Amino acid sequence: MNTFDENDQRNHPRPEETDFSRMVNTLLSRRQLLGTVGAGVGLFLGGQGLAQAANTGAQVGPRIGFKPIAANSLDTMTVPAGYQWRVLASWGDAILPGGTGFDPVTRGTAISQSLSIGDNNDGMSFFSLSADHGVIAVNNEYANYEYLFVNGRCGSIEDTRKAQAAHGVSVFEVRRIGGVWKLQPQARLNRRITANTEMRLSGPASGSALLKTQADPTGTVALGTFNNCANGRTPWGTYLTCEENFNGYFGSADSLPDNAAFKRYGISAKGAGHNWFPFDGRFDLAKNPNEPNRFGWVVEIDPMDPTSTPIKRTALGRFKHENAEVVVNADGHVVVYMGDDEKGEHIYKFVSAKKFDAKNLKANRDLLDVGTLYVARFNTVDGKAQGEGEWLELTHGKNGLTAEAGFKDQAEILVHTRLAATVVGATTMDRPEWVAVHPTQAQVYVTLTNNSDRGAKPNQAVNGPNPRAKNVYGQIVRWTPQGNDHTSNQFTWDIFALAGNPMLHKDAYAGSSNITPDNMFNSPDGLAFDRDGRLWIQTDGDYSNAKEFAGMGNNQMLCANPVTGEIKRFLVGPVACEITGVAFTPDQKTMFVGIQHPGEKLVPSHFPQGGDAVPRSSIIAISRRDGGVVGA
Ligand code: FEO
Ligand code: CA
Ligand code: CA
Repeated sequence: MNTFDENDQRNHPRPEETDFSRMVNTLLSRRQLLGTVGAGVGLFLGGQGLAQAANTGAQVGPRIGFKPIAANSLDTMTVPAGYQWRVLASWGDAILPGGTGFDPVTRGTAISQSLSIGDNNDGMSFFSLSADHGVIAVNNEYANYEYLFVNGRCGSIEDTRKAQAAHGVSVFEVRRIGGVWKLQPQARLNRRITANTEMRLSGPASGSALLKTQADPTGTVALGTFNNCANGRTPWGTYLTCEENFNGYFGSADSLPDNAAFKRYGISAKGAGHNWFPFDGRFDLAKNPNEPNRFGWVVEIDPMDPTSTPIKRTALGRFKHENAEVVVNADGHVVVYMGDDEKGEHIYKFVSAKKFDAKNLKANRDLLDVGTLYVARFNTVDGKAQGEGEWLELTHGKNGLTAEAGFKDQAEILVHTRLAATVVGATTMDRPEWVAVHPTQAQVYVTLTNNSDRGAKPNQAVNGPNPRAKNVYGQIVRWTPQGNDHTSNQFTWDIFALAGNPMLHKDAYAGSSNITPDNMFNSPDGLAFDRDGRLWIQTDGDYSNAKEFAGMGNNQMLCANPVTGEIKRFLVGPVACEITGVAFTPDQKTMFVGIQHPGEKLVPSHFPQGGDAVPRSSIIAISRRDGGVVGA
C-alpha cells in the first residue's frame, strides 16, 4: 500500500526536484499537518503570492550574499564573516541634561532613569536628518526587576516611579563619526517618554464615558504609555508605538465585580507582578476601573519635536498591539496592519478615510483618526495551507455590532475591539506578532509566534493558517490583497514558513521544506523588509537548546528571500536574550538591531560589557567591513 506521503510526493514533488512554477501549487493536507501519517520533512508552501512574483519575472528575489552562521549558545553576538557589530546604546545610558552614567551598584533612581534610556528596548525606527545624522525612537517595553532593583522587587512608590521611568519610549540623536554611529547625549531632539508622560486620546473613542476617570473627567488626557512592544513609522515622519500587555500593570487588593471585557483582556485584581497598584492608586482597579481602557492603543509621536504631545489613536482599536505596519495604498489611502499578540486573538487592518498628501506632510497629521477598522477571517478548504480570506468591518450597526449585542456606539467597539472581533467571526490565530509589507509588491507577511492552546481550546481548533496543534515552533503566514489593493476586503493567503525541528520530527513539526537543520529556529516575532525586499526574521523563543528546541541555540535573526523561500541565519544573540527591533540607515549600510533582556530571570549573562557586569538590553549597530549593503 502506498503511504499518503508517497502519493503526495508524486503529486507534489519536493522543491529540490522541481522548478519554481511547479512548486507554487504545493499544498499541505490536513492529514499531513496533523502528523497522523508519516509525512516527510515539510513541503515548501508556495502559493498565489509566489505565482504572482514568478509572473512578474522576479523569480530570484533579492540577493542574500552572506555566509549563514551556525547556531550557538554563547554570551555574545555572532554575525557572519565580513560583518562587525558595536554597541550603540544600552539601558541606563544618559540622554538628557543632568543624567548620570549607568550605576551598576544602585542601578539608578527614578530621576536618573527618567533622564536615561529605558529598559528592554524593543521596536524602533531610524529617522534620517542627513547622511551621517539621525534620530532613533525606540520602545522600552518593560523592566527586568531582577536587574532594575538590587533586591529584585518593586516595593515602594520610589521603586514604582523608577519602574515607570524605565518604561515607554526613548528618543535620541545619533551621528556617524569616522564610520561609527554614536549616541549623542544631550542632543536637542533627545527625549524620554514614560508611563507618566501626558498624552492626548484622539479619534472616535476620545471623550467616551469608557475613557473617563476621576483625574480626567473629559476622557481625553491620559498619562503615559507602557509595555510598548513593536512600532511603526508613518510616511509623514512620525513614530508609532504600540501598547501590548498593558493589562498586567493593573490590580487591586479589593475584589472586583465580574466584567466580560476585563476577562477578555486579562485584567484582574491579581495583576502580573509589576506591582504598581499598591503604591500608585491610578493602577488600582477598584479605585479607577476605567484607567485600563486608556491603554492598549497605538500612540503617535513626533520625533522631531521633543515638546509635542503623544497622541493615542483610538480609531486603530484597543488590544494587545504588537506593531503597526503602515502602507500607502496605490490610491492614496493609508492602511495600517496590526497583530494582537495573545493565543487565539486576531489580525486587524485600518483604512484611512482621507488620502495621504505627499506634498504637504503636515496635512496628514490626523489621518489616523478617521477611517474603518477591519479584522481578518482566513478561509480554508479541507485544511489546506492556502486559501482565501476577507476583512470584516468593525463599524457600529454593521455585521451584528449593535446595541443589542453590547456595543452602544463606535467608541464601545474600539475600546472592546476583541469582543467585537468575536461577534463578526474573526479567525483565531497563533499569537499574531509583527506584520511586514513588501516594499514594492502588495504582499503582507505576519509572524504567528506559537500557541500552546491550538487544538486544545474549543475556540482554537486547528485551521488553515494555524495548522498544528500545540504549536511550539510558530509560522509565517502571508497574504496578497485582491487586485494588489490594500483596501480590498478580499485576499488570498498561504504559509511562507512553518518553523520546526527537522532533526527531531518527520511530520509537520519538522517544519516546511525551507526549514533545515542549518537554519532552524522557533517563535518568529520581529519581522521587517529592507528596501531591497529581503525579509528579516527575529526570534523570541525557547533558548534552552534542548528537547524540542535542540540545535536552535540562542535567539537569532534570519534573512529570507520571499521569492525562493530560502532562509539563512544572520545573527545569534547572547544568553537568554530576545532579538527584537530592527532599523536601517537609508543607505542600508548600517542595521540597528535590538538585544532585549540578556540574562533574563538571572540566567547568567554579562552582555554587553562582559566580565562580571550587569547584563543590559542594548541597541547594536551592524555593518559590513567592506562598507556594503547589509544582507546583500
Ligand atoms: Fe512584545 Fe508580542 O511581543
Ligand atoms: Ca514581540
Ligand atoms: Ca514574542
